[in-house]
Amino acid sequence: MSKETNQQWGGRFTEPTDAFVARFTASIDFDQRMYRQDIKGSIAHAKMLTEAGVLTGDECAAIETGLAEIQSEIENGDFPWSVELEDIHMNIEAALTKKIGSTGKKLHTGRSRNDQVATDIRLYVRDEVDNILSEISRLQQGLLTLAKAEADTIMPGFTHLQTAQPVTFGHHLLAWFEMLSRDYERYVDTRKRVNISPLGAAALAGTTYPINRQMTSDLLGFDRPAENSLDAVSDRDFAIEFCATSSILAMHMTRMSEELVLWASAQFNFVNLPDRFCTGSSIMPQKKNPDVPELVRGKSGRVYGHLMSLLTLMKSQPLAYNKDNQEDKEPLFDTIDTIKGCLRAYADMVPALESKKAEMREAALRGFSTATDLADYLTRKGMPFRDAHEVVGKSVAYGIEQSKDLAEMSLEELQVFSADIEADVFEVLTLEGSVAARDHIGGTAPNQVRAAVIRGQKMLDAR
Ligand code: ARG
Repeated sequence: MSKETNQQWGGRFTEPTDAFVARFTASIDFDQRMYRQDIKGSIAHAKMLTEAGVLTGDECAAIETGLAEIQSEIENGDFPWSVELEDIHMNIEAALTKKIGSTGKKLHTGRSRNDQVATDIRLYVRDEVDNILSEISRLQQGLLTLAKAEADTIMPGFTHLQTAQPVTFGHHLLAWFEMLSRDYERYVDTRKRVNISPLGAAALAGTTYPINRQMTSDLLGFDRPAENSLDAVSDRDFAIEFCATSSILAMHMTRMSEELVLWASAQFNFVNLPDRFCTGSSIMPQKKNPDVPELVRGKSGRVYGHLMSLLTLMKSQPLAYNKDNQEDKEPLFDTIDTIKGCLRAYADMVPALESKKAEMREAALRGFSTATDLADYLTRKGMPFRDAHEVVGKSVAYGIEQSKDLAEMSLEELQVFSADIEADVFEVLTLEGSVAARDHIGGTAPNQVRAAVIRGQKMLDAR
């Protein structure tokens, strides 16, 4: 750098910024991705200044043309980014001034980088929330279609990862669908607090120009102007909330991932993950690793970490803007990229999941999964449930000893445990009988799964 001080704010300085400090305090490497939002915000601001009589129509037109050219230079990779110009806002403003002369310098009238950056981030997050919402819907559609196809597929349901009762695979997939429905709602709700316009708050106190904050808010598609200028330039709670919402989604995705990893193992052998979502081992030729679910499970770490970073970043910050806030961007952007990547991989992979129906059924037959059905059967015959529980417990102990599941025992063998057991017992000991009997809203019966799929489809179609 020459002896010259910074063009944008160097008036009161007697020496240029230290070269390392310039790099250390710059955000251009990571905030340049907000160029579109920055330009959009500037155009809205210029139009409003024109309406307010601060800029002439010609000046406004020159600004708009200049900014449009800058946008295409950036998109063509021709823009000369400068670390000395610190951030996206000053890079673009300096380029504009270079292009259109001193009119470019008028753009920053009645505005500060403090409200400008807050505006840019909110626009950026809002757009990405919309992208995330459509990816969640795409994943949910995949789950719904698969659940419909798997409404009759029987697998063991688990508690404590021990075989509990038979369930349908479709029902299990719809549990994931429900988790994602709540994540979707959380993003919709987060968006309401993101989509508020800080523009016009200026540095911290507002501005002396006759600005029209409603106009810029409307032009940028915000719901309303922020109420308080000090709050508008300083708070990043919308970013924290976005990361919190994302952390819950990431947590849900670790649960799906964990199950897919287990199910794809030789020990469970419940699903086949398409080869294109897996990788092999360089040493063990037999391996097919479930990389996508594993990585999605692992990516939760960085998402939770970013939430913690932002909470810590904002802790104890006095009003109003502080340079600390520049640190909001990397955690926020990485959260966005990570969540979009995880959703995209899952939305692509889920429709291609293949269930191994025979293996699932076989596993459900093992492990006495219909023991509760036998207890319910005895209860229907008049036995108190606790006594029935005891009787079935004894038959299970016998089955373990004889290596026989309940349905494999003869009527005579079963009757040793209770004289109430009759030939009709075998209807409840079958897997099909067991799942079909759980026939109420939220139950695992195949017809309930089909009904839930119809409700789910209606909901998706209404989005
Ligand atoms: N690059 C800054 C940021 O990301 C922009 C706002 C800087 N404002 C200031 N007065 N230093 O937060």
